[in-house]
Amino acid sequence: MNSTNDIWSEWLRHRRFGGDEAFQKQAMQQYQKWASDIVERADIFDSAAVLDIGAGDGLVGLEALTKLGPKGKLILSDISEAALAIPKEIFNEKNIQDERVEFLIAGAEDLSPLPGNSVDRVVMRSVLLYVEDKQAAFNEIFRVLRSAGKAVLWEPVNQRMSEYMKGLFRGYRMDREPLLSVKPLIQKIAEEMKKLSAQTQNTLVGYNEHDLVNMAINAGFEEIDLEYNLIRSAQVKYASWDMFFESAPNPRARSIRETMNEILTKEEFQQVEKALREVIQQAGISTKCLAMLVLKK
Ligand SMILES: C[S@@+](CC[C@H](N)C(=O)[O-])C[C@H]1O[C@@H](n2cnc3c(N)ncnc32)[C@H](O)[C@@H]1O
Repeated sequence: MNSTNDIWSEWLRHRRFGGDEAFQKQAMQQYQKWASDIVERADIFDSAAVLDIGAGDGLVGLEALTKLGPKGKLILSDISEAALAIPKEIFNEKNIQDERVEFLIAGAEDLSPLPGNSVDRVVMRSVLLYVEDKQAAFNEIFRVLRSAGKAVLWEPVNQRMSEYMKGLFRGYRMDREPLLSVKPLIQKIAEEMKKLSAQTQNTLVGYNEHDLVNMAINAGFEEIDLEYNLIRSAQVKYASWDMFFESAPNPRARSIRETMNEILTKEEFQQVEKALREVIQQAGISTKCLAMLVLKK
């Protein structure tokens, strides 16, 4: 992989939406709303130095930029140079040369290019879940923040989500038709998808909102506000077949189609595809478990 293409940029640009433009538009509106919620809680002042960790396509950071005055500073940081190319392209397309914006290639667990006590605000959305050593990331956030600094972190809590989605395949019951007659094959696919992401499974799922609070306390934060949000719905419909079949929930995961290609015979593939095409006409169950942490130094 080179700097113009890595698993993160590939996933951010293409694989997370399964090539479905309508779903992409709908998802981006939701991400934009979350970015605004984060920035609102960050209470950004005119001359603040703001660090967006795991900036990716820059959604949160660019929202923060709208709150900064001429003396403000925005650092967009990410472990992936290729991911940071996305906000750079946005700037180039809009012909924006903003002296207030800097780009930094660094992992959340090692922000050593930044001195201690050097930023006023840290914002981070949907990054910690990918970080293996989450405590190190909290320690680094505490280190780089100036006193009276504030960090706003937003993360899905997959451990809770997988608990509440047990027994379902992507939100659909396996003890009812049309999935019942292909249940053993569906279970095989679900098992395989888990296996393929085994090395990342613990990083992605092995923490809950209380673990995040404990890590913040261990890092030195004394003022902590946790908003935990659970939304369960039985009315969820997939935006399209492509979104259901082709999208990958994270960069290291396979899509359903990729997994089926690997492990099913042609005949089994056709049987399962028929049942899945039928089931996604119905509404399914979804559970979103989200944590918003506001930390003050
Ligand atoms: C789901 S995207 C979120 C992007 C952006 N924060 C947003 O709100 O749209 C996750 C981002 O985290 C970055 N990332 C993954 N592991 C990281 C790490 N250890 N340190 C910093 N960034 C990381 C990825 O490159 C990717 O851009």
